[in-house]
Amino acid sequence: MPKKNIVVVGTQWGDEGKGKVIDWLTDRVGCVVRFQGGHNAGHTLVINGKKTILRLIPSGILREGVPCVIGNGVVLSPVALTQEIEELESTGVDVKSQLVVSASCSVILPSHIALDQARERAKGKNAIGTTGRGIGPTYEDKVARRGIHVCDLLDKDRFWSKLEPLVEYHNFLLTNYYNEEPVSAKESFDEINKAFEKFGSLVADSASVIEAVKNKGESILFEGAQGTFLDIDLGTYPYVTSSNTTAGAASVGTGMGPLNIESVLGITKAYTTRVGAGPFVTELHDETGMRLAEKGNEFGSVTGRPRRCGWFDALILRRSARMNSLSGLCLTKLDVLDGFDTVKICVAYKLNGETFTEMPMDSDLLEQCEPVYEEMPGWDVTAGIQNIDNLPEAAKNYLVRVEELVGVPISLLSTGPGRTEIAVLNDPFSEETAVNAAGEI
Ligand code: IMP
Repeated sequence: MPKKNIVVVGTQWGDEGKGKVIDWLTDRVGCVVRFQGGHNAGHTLVINGKKTILRLIPSGILREGVPCVIGNGVVLSPVALTQEIEELESTGVDVKSQLVVSASCSVILPSHIALDQARERAKGKNAIGTTGRGIGPTYEDKVARRGIHVCDLLDKDRFWSKLEPLVEYHNFLLTNYYNEEPVSAKESFDEINKAFEKFGSLVADSASVIEAVKNKGESILFEGAQGTFLDIDLGTYPYVTSSNTTAGAASVGTGMGPLNIESVLGITKAYTTRVGAGPFVTELHDETGMRLAEKGNEFGSVTGRPRRCGWFDALILRRSARMNSLSGLCLTKLDVLDGFDTVKICVAYKLNGETFTEMPMDSDLLEQCEPVYEEMPGWDVTAGIQNIDNLPEAAKNYLVRVEELVGVPISLLSTGPGRTEIAVLNDPFSEETAVNAAGEI
């Protein structure tokens, strides 16, 4: 029996290349579901040389006929969703025949965005570096049980009765605490109602939609956004996003019980990047860092901000493997390391003269850690390689070492942005014992 349902998560700080891999896996599944985050995510897909960036809509949307569900764990901006639907429709994608929006998603209001940006401004040099999309304040209101759900938008009176006091509360904070301009509740109401006209017909009890796919015997792909160390509970707090980005969230963010998840694929960049503030032990502030950024085109797909770059960190990956129950890795952007004389892997941290092989969870401690590197010979070209046997020996050795240090086999290797630039080492849906990159069990 092949494994059926699979969660795809980013194992580092996001931007590992999940969009491409999800699109690739979508061929084999009955539906794709987003379970957390919002339009702070940016999933880039390159198909026949054409680039599409998805922020909110699941990355399965570019495979015709595959239902794509925005699950209840997602915070949804009606305006951003409408824009994204229109952008996709203008390129000929029949979004409405595929997309389902959970009635239980929390709604992002203009005043959430205003609060997010006001807080960042007020924090000054201690800012988190959020995407400024209102994600944090919307999750706060959800947890405080005063948030607005998509189902509230179905009834205008109900929506207004919840919106008005909430915007009044936001405005109290904006004007009295942050010294900022208030937001108009009426304009917010009109803007959201207008956007809702575009996708209101797609709203459903999404857990039942997913259940129906499962009952047909088809696979479900749970699409994570951001990355493990941006998880509100398990990440480098407070430099995190406001949702749970790890595999466990796939269950609560969709309404599918945890026993429905049989496989967890960890998307892992062959080096490390991070956007926004927070500890990053292997960050490179030199020419090598710039070379990674340029070659890897490391600029935020949503914000355009340059990403911080550094070598592969085996300590964070090991912790990620444990926290997500990773069954396999998909190593991405190996080609960005092409042409280096040597490549480095961080195998330990030094702190106050002591050496550790376990990543500390305390961000202040992590900030002070120094990397201990292992240096390996580099290789010429891996770009575009689709068969592991054609990899240069040194690249293969790099993969084997990553597997050894992380303790998880590599299932997939991505060697370029295109849909076909991928090598399969172990089928993520297979029950068979995985082999390592050297072909050994
Ligand atoms: P927020 O999610 O906008 O609240 O931002 C919180 C932190 O998460 C910031 O450091 C952002 O840069 C980071 N972040 C949010 N979404 C993404 C993403 O999709 N990729 C990488 N970093 C992200």
